[in-house]
Amino acid sequence: MDIRTQPLAAAPAPVLRADYAPPVWQVPEIALEFDLDPARTQVTGRLSVVRAGTGPLRLDGDGLTADAVSVDGVPADWTMDGDQLVIDLAGDAHLVEIRVTIAPEANTQLMGLYASDGLLCTQCEAEGFRRIMFFPDRPDVLARYAVRLVADRARYPVLLSNGDHVDSGTLPDGRHYADWRDPFPKPSYLFALVAGDLAVNRDSFVTGSGKVVELGIWVREHDLGRTGHAMHALKTAMAWDERVYGREYDLGVFNIVAVSDFNFGAMENKGLNIFNSRYVLADPDTATDQDYDAVATVVAHEYFHNWSGNRVTCRDWFQLSLKEGFTVFRDQQYSADQGSAAVKRIEDVRVLRAAQFPEDGGPLAHPIRPDSYIEISNFYTATIYNKGAEVIRMMHTMLGEAAFRAGSDLYFDRHDGTAATCEDFVAAMEDASGHDLGMFRLWYRQAGTPRVHAALDFDAPGGRARLRLQQVVPATPGQPDKQAMPMPLRIALFGEVSGTKLLPEQTVMLDGAHQEILFEGIGERPVLSINRGFSAPVTIESDRSAADLAFLSAHDDDPFARYEAMQQLMVDTLVDDVATGNADLTPVIAAVKATLADPALEPAFVAEAVLLPSEAYLGDQMPVVDPQAVTRAWDRLRGALGAELIADWRGVYAGMAAGGDSLEAAGKGMRRLRGVALGYIVASGAADGPALAAAQYEAAGTMTDRQTALSALAMTASAERDAAFAAFHARYADNGLVLDKWFQTQALAPRSDTIDVVERLARHPDFVMTNPNRLRSLVGAFAVNQRAFHDPSGRGYRFLGEMVVAIDRINPQTAAKLVPPLGRWSRFDAARGAMMRAELERVLGTEGLSKDVFEQVSKSLG
Ligand code: PHE
Ligand code: ZN
Repeated sequence: MDIRTQPLAAAPAPVLRADYAPPVWQVPEIALEFDLDPARTQVTGRLSVVRAGTGPLRLDGDGLTADAVSVDGVPADWTMDGDQLVIDLAGDAHLVEIRVTIAPEANTQLMGLYASDGLLCTQCEAEGFRRIMFFPDRPDVLARYAVRLVADRARYPVLLSNGDHVDSGTLPDGRHYADWRDPFPKPSYLFALVAGDLAVNRDSFVTGSGKVVELGIWVREHDLGRTGHAMHALKTAMAWDERVYGREYDLGVFNIVAVSDFNFGAMENKGLNIFNSRYVLADPDTATDQDYDAVATVVAHEYFHNWSGNRVTCRDWFQLSLKEGFTVFRDQQYSADQGSAAVKRIEDVRVLRAAQFPEDGGPLAHPIRPDSYIEISNFYTATIYNKGAEVIRMMHTMLGEAAFRAGSDLYFDRHDGTAATCEDFVAAMEDASGHDLGMFRLWYRQAGTPRVHAALDFDAPGGRARLRLQQVVPATPGQPDKQAMPMPLRIALFGEVSGTKLLPEQTVMLDGAHQEILFEGIGERPVLSINRGFSAPVTIESDRSAADLAFLSAHDDDPFARYEAMQQLMVDTLVDDVATGNADLTPVIAAVKATLADPALEPAFVAEAVLLPSEAYLGDQMPVVDPQAVTRAWDRLRGALGAELIADWRGVYAGMAAGGDSLEAAGKGMRRLRGVALGYIVASGAADGPALAAAQYEAAGTMTDRQTALSALAMTASAERDAAFAAFHARYADNGLVLDKWFQTQALAPRSDTIDVVERLARHPDFVMTNPNRLRSLVGAFAVNQRAFHDPSGRGYRFLGEMVVAIDRINPQTAAKLVPPLGRWSRFDAARGAMMRAELERVLGTEGLSKDVFEQVSKSLG
């Protein structure tokens, strides 16, 4: 049957922020008992419920049936209203006992209790607990948990849950049990358990007030040697949060468990963080320097949630950015403190521009505090996380370090042990600082990336410069008209002749649609440096010439601004070349040459500065994306930079070999720059390019050098490429995380035949549809490879559409995350747009579509 003729299921109803009502029943205490078995796990819940309003007790369930229900020890009457179990309770306080049976090994959604690689583990955020036990599964219901885990001792020797381990013992038939108590009331999304055959890396941390915390990182025995870096990161994060935010850890234990099948990066369950193994495991043979940094960032992020998320949680899921935006900001600060703050800022902005700007400019745009959702899992977005962090950062910039800290202290103080709102956070910042954040709250309400136009006039005889700023916030779905939003713009002027800063940097508050700023005593033509440090998450449009940008790329004393000037120069040149085919490339080539030769710059910074903006980012700068024209221009500039500066690249390549295998920041920076140089040498078309990359591959002592060589070879069609990929696969055949790199590097290859390779890889025996990391490394990577995905044949769209449908049957959350690239149809030419829409429609017409995919696809069609 033609699936297009299937009637659409009724559209699921959205949940509205305006409909928030406090819970009718609270559950101050819950005792849970699990009789664990992969095929048949029995769960008994004893809920002490206390009336907080009028109405029956309504408990959320998802795919559960109650085997038995009693109230105060007596079998009770109950009904089902959709997925909710409803009990009419006469009094104000009761003990409700419910028994259910669930099948973890059949749970491919990876929400609730599931099996991964012989382990049993849970994922409850946002609404997974209701797949384990009937419960008011909303973050403003906080309970104290007592948990008993019972399982076969041989198969599941380790039994973990939240809080403190209070008892364990043996039972008949080779079974055993462990009891855990979490003294801190928590919402159900922070519940966790793990059962399995795990080895542990144990350590301890002494808090500022002298409390000893037992730390454990639990992994498969053969991965134990890869846990050192995560442990180091955990301890530095604990110390950092005490020093910078005055936050101490509050339990006697902190455990981290690595699992290989996980929908997100990691989860901050109280005292028992569960991680995607890719953010725990690292050793030089299997992890790149980037992986090391990602491990540290995610370990810190989840740890920081203990305060920003757990001690103070969210009232409802519309407030998600309350914990995520703030915690991302905190992990960014932490990472900036561990190495080069400038390079970290550049990386964070690159992520924002690659992931959040397109979201904010497309059909899925939403404010950092959304007004409605169909499926909350779809709102764990770059907007909530990364733009949310930028909004916190702006407050930090406006208030200054000390007042911001006073605000966060007040926030934690006021709301400790409760479920709070974004408004509570802003109010605490206001109250502690005396700063009026009235209009600033628009950042929580309005979606869309503001565009700020900046024009600087110079009146030479008067010695005056006048800066005119103009702000536009573009329309987004459901928000046609926008108000101007207050934003801090860090600004400086540089003298074109002297090459020096003419005035000290100022932070200008742009708080209307238009603003003029007058600078006096300017003795020479000034060049504008604006949004330094990326002080506001906006797009700057200015009329600065190529010469001005090249000047800033050599003279600006703010490293971010310096990087930004180079990027803008590259973007302007590439956009010109896309249009004309013969843009003047010499300013970029000269600026890159000067940057490579500047001995004052750290290698990690140079590596960032000389890299071209991605093809996707260039596409974002055009009214209608022409992927082939972008590819042509990108290849031309990259080839020219490689060929014209070949001697420079070879010099850098040789010079940076001194970085060796050192894991220190300096070694990492040198490896990064060396990798960038190798890429340019290969792109130059030099005859020895593939051989040089192959030699690096052979000699590599670290995964970083091996991966860089592989990526460089992936650009070529060479015998060396094929040999290296075969060797890589053979070497790492039994390491799933490294095989992900093998898939991803091929899916990201900037080649027109990548689509063929990707279609072939989708039939490879190692392409496992049940593992989210594997799906992301092939399908997710391919969909952001603009030149490959937008192949004029439309095969890329078809491939993605088919994948979404197939994955949706297994894991709706992961399927839904693959939809957005198709939703960008209105940005492309009519032919591509029509093919992309057709795929979305085909997906939408599929029978039995999940809410997750339904929401993403229907919104994407507009
Ligand atoms: N709360 C997790 C984090 O950001 C992310 C997450 C969401 C993990 C949903 C799993 C499921 O730290
Ligand atoms: Zn988080």
